[in-house]
Amino acid sequence: MKIYVPMDSAAKALGADAVAEAILAEAGRRGLKVDLVRNGTHGMIWLEPLVEVDTGGGRQAFGPVTVADVPALLDGTLKGLGKVADIAFFARQTRLTFARCGVIDPLDLDDYAAHGGLVGLRRGLGMDQATIIQEVTESGLRGRGGAGFPTGLKWNTVLGAQADQKYIICNADEGDSGTFADRMIMEGDPFTLIEGMIIAGIGVGATKGYVYLRSEYPDAIKVMNAAVLIAREKGLLGSDILGSGKAFDMEIRVGAGAYVCGEETSLLNSLEGKRGVVRAKPPLPALEGFLGKPTVVNNVLSLATIPVIFEKGAAHYANFGLGRSRGTMPIQIAGNVKFGGLFETAFGMPLGVLVNEVAGGTATGRPVKAVQVGGPLGAYMPASKFDTPFGYEEFDGQGGLIGHAGLVIHDDRADMLKLARFAMEFCAVESCGKCTPCRIGAVRGVETIDRIGRGDLAAIPILTDLCETMKEGSLCALGGFTPFPVMSALTHFPDDFVTTKEAAE
Ligand SMILES: Cc1cc2nc3c(=O)[nH]c(=O)nc-3n(C[C@H](O)[C@H](O)[C@H](O)COP(=O)(O)O)c2cc1C
Ligand code: SF4
Repeated sequence: MKIYVPMDSAAKALGADAVAEAILAEAGRRGLKVDLVRNGTHGMIWLEPLVEVDTGGGRQAFGPVTVADVPALLDGTLKGLGKVADIAFFARQTRLTFARCGVIDPLDLDDYAAHGGLVGLRRGLGMDQATIIQEVTESGLRGRGGAGFPTGLKWNTVLGAQADQKYIICNADEGDSGTFADRMIMEGDPFTLIEGMIIAGIGVGATKGYVYLRSEYPDAIKVMNAAVLIAREKGLLGSDILGSGKAFDMEIRVGAGAYVCGEETSLLNSLEGKRGVVRAKPPLPALEGFLGKPTVVNNVLSLATIPVIFEKGAAHYANFGLGRSRGTMPIQIAGNVKFGGLFETAFGMPLGVLVNEVAGGTATGRPVKAVQVGGPLGAYMPASKFDTPFGYEEFDGQGGLIGHAGLVIHDDRADMLKLARFAMEFCAVESCGKCTPCRIGAVRGVETIDRIGRGDLAAIPILTDLCETMKEGSLCALGGFTPFPVMSALTHFPDDFVTTKEAAE
């Protein structure tokens, strides 16, 4: 009997370790031989710990499983969920980047290879550099870290740069509110990120890579470090990748936990041991990045999507999606929501379908008031914008952004003035201090929102003006995009900003 209990940190937070221990103890008492696999999560967090049992006829899912359920689980009398693939939330997905997450043993390279792993790398090893870049360009892949910059174009710039050393840096800082996809893939399918980084290295001529991983992800740090060691032992990393004669090696580096260290130039400073302050561009990191050398900085999901593009071909990937948003996006559903978790789908699904159908609306059962899409710098989308298809240009056209594709859902009790204040305060706290519109503007922004909250409506045009200055004058998107949540809250929910002086007192 093979039993799968996720070792993903969300599953662990919900009791997966205790369930795993109880299964081994109960099996021991019964003299039952159990092969326990600690897999990644399938991403349906409301069902965690989601345990799968395979007695020879395929994997049957159960969840959420408690320690008290374990005897019935082993008796075969616990009510199950059927196969994971048949659960409605899962069945509706198109899993390309996350195809193996939850399926395999994350640290078993043979299991990885048995599920399509390394096929893409082997194909890439047979290509010249220009063809590798062309494949990425034709896939239409755009950066999943937030800005949506075409990955092929970035790689091409690094390929064209002349230098004795180039680098691949994976941005695993994942600071956006409501996001967890980077963590899930690192904990559930780490070799896919390693494979993606190797292909990037071969493509642009970089022999060294780093993953900049946030310190708040201790499980992901452990899994990634273990995976790098295995990859090195098995000849996947090192001076002769899979006997090709090509070299690439990588290390995991842990960040100290500032939101702004997810911004690529600030990340580079941090990685070099300096303070995490944003650098002015130009020079682009692609030309003068880590230690002044040409550097690819890509998000975890961008790099982890490379293997499937090379495995199935650029055209297969590009076939999914909408407009200039090609392929799939691992959307992260969080906040006040019934079915929270990871939902990978082709670009194009309307926001309202994601919120009301896929996510099942709010956990409280109250009407949805607003959804913040794209992290702390993303706009609050009201129900009137729920027809917006999930895509870069489509959201941009509605004054929003998809960012790293986190959705944080709020019910009708949300106070949008307080949320706007929170956005400004977040900017003030996390500002690196390099430029005035952000460093000073965010502090003045909090004060101005407080004036509005006290019933001083004359402060509303001042807030609007301040937001315009921050948008136009900030050096990076922290100061430049904070106006999105603030102004969307003000524009779509003006009633929350009209507090009479009497009510405020
Ligand atoms: C304040 C701020 C925070 C950011 N945080 C992250 C982050 O946590 N992870 C990430 O991949 N990109 C983050 N970015 C975007 C990066 O600067 C950069 O665009 C990205 O790593 C490039 O990779 P991609 O092209 O694969 O998206 C952030 C940007 C800003 C302005
Ligand atoms: S906008 Fe803020 S975080 Fe960005 S460079 Fe300016 S002060 Fe630093």
